[in-house]
Amino acid sequence: MPKSLISIHDFSKEEILHILEVAKDFERDKCRNILGDKVIACIFFEPSTRTRLSFETASNRLGARVIGFSDAGNTSISKGESLKDTIKMVSNYADLIVMRHPLEGSARYASEVSSVPIINAGDGANQHPTQTLLDLYSIQQTQGRLDGLRLNMVGDLKYGRTVHSLLQAMSHFSPEFIFTAPEELRMPKEYLEFLSERNIPYREETELSGNIKDTDILYMTRVQQERFTDPMEYEKVKDVYRLTASMLEGCKPNMKILHPLPRVSEIADDVDETPHAYYFKQAENGVYVRMAIIAYLLGKTNNL
Ligand code: CP
Repeated sequence: MPKSLISIHDFSKEEILHILEVAKDFERDKCRNILGDKVIACIFFEPSTRTRLSFETASNRLGARVIGFSDAGNTSISKGESLKDTIKMVSNYADLIVMRHPLEGSARYASEVSSVPIINAGDGANQHPTQTLLDLYSIQQTQGRLDGLRLNMVGDLKYGRTVHSLLQAMSHFSPEFIFTAPEELRMPKEYLEFLSERNIPYREETELSGNIKDTDILYMTRVQQERFTDPMEYEKVKDVYRLTASMLEGCKPNMKILHPLPRVSEIADDVDETPHAYYFKQAENGVYVRMAIIAYLLGKTNNL
């Protein structure tokens, strides 16, 4: 089976640091024609702006050609074709498949039936490992290091696949966590146990004000309407946090605000003008990191 990236656990600490180094190189020199003979398939069963377009940009900048779809309704899945048959077919056409799918575990399943590497571009509330790698890159670029930082993760910590993957990746780097969420959207027990087993300190809070001052990275998330089965539950928590510029007074000068985006109401527009806002640059970093991941999985990073 070819090496895929399904969960952040698929990469060792050394591999993670290698990807970040290669991404730095790609940021310095944005166009590398090293995949001129490759075809990359981007198949998206769920909506996306950043992930799909940054993967397509990354593929183009590496010289590869891109095929795929962003609406499964226009494919033979609408006629009843299974995910297994779809992946088998696409892996006959492409050298690597980038897939987003709403079902948890679908990306792992795809990697088991595919003859080419699969990159998980998000599987339900489970994992979003390429977002994690670009988050790590953004943290390293802004703080100058990954070790010994305090992260405050805010919002939908229950369904937020980006916070689940980031928490696990940061466990290599002696972090401290604050988890700020309403009772309904607390960080799931399995992730808290993961931290306890590794003696990584964390505390849970329900208020955002008062928990920003000592933070190095404020990781904001959207409350994801699409993950709720009960609309009333969503209504109760959808506007629970709203970060405004005035709330940033007294925070560390180099504190940076990250957000996987899209945002809805959780970060006010006036925050964009502060030196703490980093989320748009973070999204740009996705191109360089995804270039590095694609090149690595296709065995092209050894001689860079
Ligand atoms: N961060 C992220 O996954 O954004 P998209 O849903 O737009 O791809």
